[in-house]
This record gives sequence, structure tokens and C-alpha cells, in this order.
Amino acid sequence: MRIILAGAGRVAGHLAEALQENGHAVVGVVSRTPQHAQRLAEKTGAVWGTFSSFTLPTADVVIYAVSDQALEEVITAIPPGRMLALHTAGSIPMDIFKGKAKNYGVLYPLQTFTEGRQIDFREIPLCIEANTPENKERLQALASSLSRRVIPAGSEQRLTLHLAAVLVNNFVNHLFVLADGLLREKELPFDLLQPLMEETVAKALAMGPEKAQTGPAARNDENVIKKHLELLSCSPGMQKIYRLLTESIQSNTHPQKK
Ligand SMILES: NC(=O)c1ccc[n+]([C@@H]2O[C@H](COP(=O)([O-])OP(=O)(O)OC[C@H]3O[C@@H](n4cnc5c(N)ncnc54)[C@H](OP(=O)(O)O)[C@@H]3O)[C@@H](O)[C@H]2O)c1
Repeated sequence: MRIILAGAGRVAGHLAEALQENGHAVVGVVSRTPQHAQRLAEKTGAVWGTFSSFTLPTADVVIYAVSDQALEEVITAIPPGRMLALHTAGSIPMDIFKGKAKNYGVLYPLQTFTEGRQIDFREIPLCIEANTPENKERLQALASSLSRRVIPAGSEQRLTLHLAAVLVNNFVNHLFVLADGLLREKELPFDLLQPLMEETVAKALAMGPEKAQTGPAARNDENVIKKHLELLSCSPGMQKIYRLLTESIQSNTHPQKK
């Protein structure tokens, strides 16, 4: 398919690579910052422009991969005409295209993207939704060419998936950041935690996260919880997080859990 990318950030960059590798042509890149559009366009051999000055080349699909706040404005600035218009956001309903596009849908990649990281796109679950059965078929064909895991998901399901993704990725990574800071204060390296971090994920996937829970909150070891809270006394924000998570674990833990 001939594809136009609206946006030149993390998702657009990873998508461009996956599209090219799987025989599609990225024929246009349009973004807010000219240098960003140009840099991505040069990698794909596409024409480029900014949202205020861009003549669309002919294409089959336009993928809007911009910040969620700017999405509506960008769709208005770069109207898709009869092209299949897709966005890549977890928490924005498909109907954002209503009245702005004839053929539309969503291609939400359930993964975290950061520039410079290599990700096997074929393993990324791609959640799809489209406004007509014909467009769903076209989108299914496009998505299946990129990934072996294509999942139909309506806007409400996708919103919940995104919320769950925020918990397991964004929030967990923030806890990594806090843990790293604590270890640095005592001149200990973050990678000492690597086997524990890896086992946490492996175990939750193997036996389910509820069964996998351990630690002072699950055991109700109040003496240890008190010590940890004292250690965090200089950092009220972290104390608050520790308390909230401890209470959440305790209220979720069955008496037989150790
Ligand atoms: N990153 C992820 O892990 C991830 C995962 C799944 C889905 N998504 C979704 O994919 C979409 C893109 O996310 P991303 O992480 O690729 O974002 P990003 O790297 O921050 O890139 C954002 C893009 O939006 C443009 N933009 C930002 N603010 C704008 C504004 N006010 N007006 C016009 N354009 C603006 C930027 O333009 P310039 O840089 O040219 O200024 C850039 O092209 C979002 O809907 C996000 O929810 C992201």
C-alpha cells in the first residue's frame, strides 16, 4: 500500500520501518517541525512537509501518529479525502474521524516505543477497528502484513487496554526510576535488580499476577513496612506511593497468601 505518515515521532518512526520492510511504500511524511518530517522522509524516500504547507501525494492510507492532544487539529489540517484514515492512539475513540473522513479506523500498537530501540514489530499486538466491513478488511490486510498478532478491539476495549498498559509499563517504569534513585544514594548499581525484575515479569505471566504477589504487604509484616516508611521520611511523595501500594496489596491479598 502507499502510505502517508502524519507525525514523525516515535510511533511514526517505528511504523515507517515496519511498513517499508513489509513491502509498503511510505510516500509522504508530514509533521509540525520541518526537520522532523524531513529526517523521517529521507529514511523512506518520501516527500515531506509541515501541517501548514503540504500537498498530499496520492496514497491509499494516511496514518495520524501525533500527540493525542493534537490529533483532531491535525486531521482537520490534513484532511484524508477518500484515503483510509487511521490513528494510533489507545484512548481516543475511532469516531474522532466522524465528519472528517469517509473511510477510517484505528491501528493501535500495544507496545512502548522509544527512538533508538529495536523492536520486533511482528510480535507487537496490533488492535484494529474500522468504520465499515470493507475498511476492516483493508485494515486487517495491512495490519497482518506487519504483525502476526492482530486483534479486533472496539474503542472502549482499547481505552481499557491503554489504561492497563499505563499500569504495567508507565507506572512500573516510574517505580524503576524511583528504585534507581534510592540505590544511587547508597552507591549501589541498578542492574543488581535485573534478575528480580525479570523474574517478576516471567512469574506473573506464568502463574498470574495475583498468585505471584510476595513482600511485606502481602505477608502483613508491619514492622518492615514501618521501617521502609521511616527510610522514606525525607520524601513525602514516595511515602505516599508506598502507602497507597501497600494498602492496595493488603486489600487484595487473601489470608492464605504468603
Ligand atoms: N510512544 C508510544 O509508546 C506509543 C505506543 C502506542 C501508541 N502511541 C500513540 O501514538 C501516537 C504518537 O505517539 P508518539 O509517542 O509517537 O509521539 P511523539 O514521539 O511525542 O511524536 C508526536 C508527534 O506529534 C507532533 N505534535 C506534537 N504536538 C503537536 C501539536 N501541538 N500540534 C501538531 N503536532 C504536534 C510532533 O510533531 P514534531 O515532532 O514534528 O514537532 C510529532 O510528530 C499517540 O497517539 C500515542 O498515544 C504511542
